[in-house]
Amino acid sequence: MAQVPHPPAPDAGGAASVTGSGGSGWSDRFEEGLHPFIEGFNASIGFDRELLRHDLIGSRAHARMLSEVGVLTAVEADQLDQALVTIQRDAEEGRFVPSLQDEDVHFAVERRLIEMVGSLGKKLHTGRSRNDQVSTDLRLWLREQIDALQGDLADYRSALLDLAETHLETLIPGYTHLQRAQPLSLAHHLLAYVEMAGRDSERLAEVRRRVNQCPLGAAALAGTPVPIDRHSTARQLGFEGLCANSLDAVSDRDFVVDFLSGASLILVHLSRLSEEVILWASEEFAFVTLSDRCATGSSLMPQKKNPDVPELVRGKSGRVFGSLMAMLTVLKGLPLAYNKDLQEDKEGLFDAVRTTRDCLRAMTILLREGLSFRPARLADAVASDFSNATDVADYLVGKDVPFREAYQLVGRVVKTCLAEGCLLRDLPLSRWQEMHPLIEADLLERLEPRAVVQARTSWGGTSIDLVREALARHRQT
Ligand code: ARG
Repeated sequence: MAQVPHPPAPDAGGAASVTGSGGSGWSDRFEEGLHPFIEGFNASIGFDRELLRHDLIGSRAHARMLSEVGVLTAVEADQLDQALVTIQRDAEEGRFVPSLQDEDVHFAVERRLIEMVGSLGKKLHTGRSRNDQVSTDLRLWLREQIDALQGDLADYRSALLDLAETHLETLIPGYTHLQRAQPLSLAHHLLAYVEMAGRDSERLAEVRRRVNQCPLGAAALAGTPVPIDRHSTARQLGFEGLCANSLDAVSDRDFVVDFLSGASLILVHLSRLSEEVILWASEEFAFVTLSDRCATGSSLMPQKKNPDVPELVRGKSGRVFGSLMAMLTVLKGLPLAYNKDLQEDKEGLFDAVRTTRDCLRAMTILLREGLSFRPARLADAVASDFSNATDVADYLVGKDVPFREAYQLVGRVVKTCLAEGCLLRDLPLSRWQEMHPLIEADLLERLEPRAVVQARTSWGGTSIDLVREALARHRQT
């Protein structure tokens, strides 16, 4: 997992806190420090360090804006800016490690700033609150992760497209109810997942637009008398717009739910593909072989080769759905505006982002080098069932026999074949003609698996030409 573990319980007399009163870190109304257990329970620094870079970016924009509106001098703003840049470098190089006494990343940065530039550091928090700050940080972080995730999705999509291109003419049984239904171009089957990935990507783009609204300047909940310029900070931070209501700005975590719901659907899609690969790799199907690079053995049974990668993806989907449920539950009873419950927005989100990215990458590797389809098995599978039965009915429909009548007739033929232990293609023309006088020799060609696939020429169907066109369309986007 991405998260930094909780720091160990604090020793007495740790790092100096931001406001440095009564050992509590709070204003002078507090006389006693926090109970040591509660200090750890309350802190988010164990995981919100993940937001450090974004917190510093947000603070730099805030400082610059304060100088634009005359709250800070240009010299003060420059000094703060340099210090904030140094904090980033110090963090990267291990010279700045937030401590548990800092409570969270925002206080940790403020403390460091005061250590570095003295009382000027105490001016940075003018006109803002951790409430608008944390939402700003989280939005900046998530925006960046969404962009990275779009890249992962694009890689996964192109692995599917490459595999589809190789298997345009390979046929695979198509199923409904997991019963053989009608044969398909394998590319058509894979392109179904490309369609899903396309929608996943569109959804993420929509979520990004809603994430990309700036809450900074809402202050604690009601705005601020400080003459801040919210448009300036929003612009500097690359936000597309401003959260229009200060209460909503600090309370809203819809954007987290939005994202988790988009991520859940990505995992739903990956999990369905995983399930198919698992089935295909079984001896019962034997449609694919797994390469050694993406499969594992059993510690006991020497003959085993297990599909761990798709199984893990299928299993990990639960974590992302869990984070979505947790976030919905956190929000549902919250009165406006900020409540500490909202601190629970982060760990699930961080985990969901990492899980989704990892699963996409694992599936991409699996598609690229983890499995190979077995053409002989597939050819055998599509040729040895009744998945051409609809085509006999369609043939008769072409001779003006009403569909339902044709359907009943073919049902009787299938029953006869089952009793005789043969397939539709095994029946000689004379038998067919006994069953219906309009049947001629051309029926037998139509029963070949490839002909069955080629017959599905309605737009969006599986005929090879249509699938080739679909593939080309996908390649262009
Ligand atoms: N660590 C807090 C969080 O993640 C930051 C905001 C704290 N605000 C407050 N009023 N206690 O939500």
